[in-house]
Amino acid sequence: MRVVSGIQPTGNLHLGNYLGAIRNWVRMQDDMQDGEQCLFFLADLHAISMPHDPAELHRGTLEMAAAVVACGIDPHRSILFNQAQVPAHAEMQWLLNGTARMGWLNRMTQWKDKAGKNREGQSVALFAYPVLQAADVLLYQTTHVPVGEDQKQHLELARDIAQKFNNDFAGEDTPVFTLPEAITPPQAARIMSLRDGSKKMSKSDPSEMSRIELADDADTVMKKVKKAKTDPEPLPSEAGGLVGRAEALNLVTIYAAVADTTVEAVLGEYGGEGFGKFKPALGELLVETLRPISTRFNELLDDREALDAILARGASQARELARPTLDATYSALGLVR
Ligand code: TYM
Repeated sequence: MRVVSGIQPTGNLHLGNYLGAIRNWVRMQDDMQDGEQCLFFLADLHAISMPHDPAELHRGTLEMAAAVVACGIDPHRSILFNQAQVPAHAEMQWLLNGTARMGWLNRMTQWKDKAGKNREGQSVALFAYPVLQAADVLLYQTTHVPVGEDQKQHLELARDIAQKFNNDFAGEDTPVFTLPEAITPPQAARIMSLRDGSKKMSKSDPSEMSRIELADDADTVMKKVKKAKTDPEPLPSEAGGLVGRAEALNLVTIYAAVADTTVEAVLGEYGGEGFGKFKPALGELLVETLRPISTRFNELLDDREALDAILARGASQARELARPTLDATYSALGLVR
């Protein structure tokens, strides 16, 4: 098993990232057997596909490294790095650009959402973004990619690119790439905004009240949960009663994910209760869960040198692991080196 996943270092780590992805990274790391490997990276090269402030990206990359370690990624057991220190990612993207098809990229919902009506005004990087994501994964012969629901389409594309490349350029018995599989958490694949149950919780939402960040203090968490949008009905006692109540469903889903239980079990306890009782219970559960993470995050932030060293060491390990597949790709394409 080879596990690889990434997160963009723009904005702060939020509950959607944690429940949808990072918590699974930690679980997969903790379940690793001898000879298996987990690689986790900060997708800083992806972050330049949108307008950005260089100083903020620099700071955000170190902060995201601290956040990921605070969540439980151990840089001595997993390989933690940022893409910019492993040039193989950018190189591999170029090599895969020859295989990826415009039509495939045009169908990506994230591209359509982010570009909106102004496609002509977007960067080439935003359009080509999923090819870089395919490179991230295919470079390492990855078998499993823990991600939230919104990244599944990009992973399907990575499989399509791998398959076409293997067909076009590799012998039947000597494929260059392994086809990766997305691993999505059953409970928390999609955590929604606290202000609008039809939008995913996102770093780019202008309203900070829409998301809980892992570095939020207890008062902020309680305030955000109490102000979360809901409806006037009490909670139902069965999950079917949450149909058409997106905000209520989201809060119950968050509770279930954080408590590591099911929506049914939460409704078994709170069915019939109003939000006046449920919200404080959810807020307290979140505060208890996030406290150790935010304490560790703040400690790590105070030691920038240690963070630099973690990323430098991870990058050197990643460069080693990437080399054989990168070499095989150049060679399969007939490039003289
Ligand atoms: P990013 O930075 O948007 O999000 C990081 C991880 O968090 C998950 N996630 C969510 N899960 C549930 N509910 C939400 N509201 C929510 N918001 C975010 C995402 O699914 C993701 O797993 N393109 C990727 C980064 C990336 C990557 C990769 C991932 C680059 N290369 C290779 C996997 C493999 C992204 O922008 O994720």
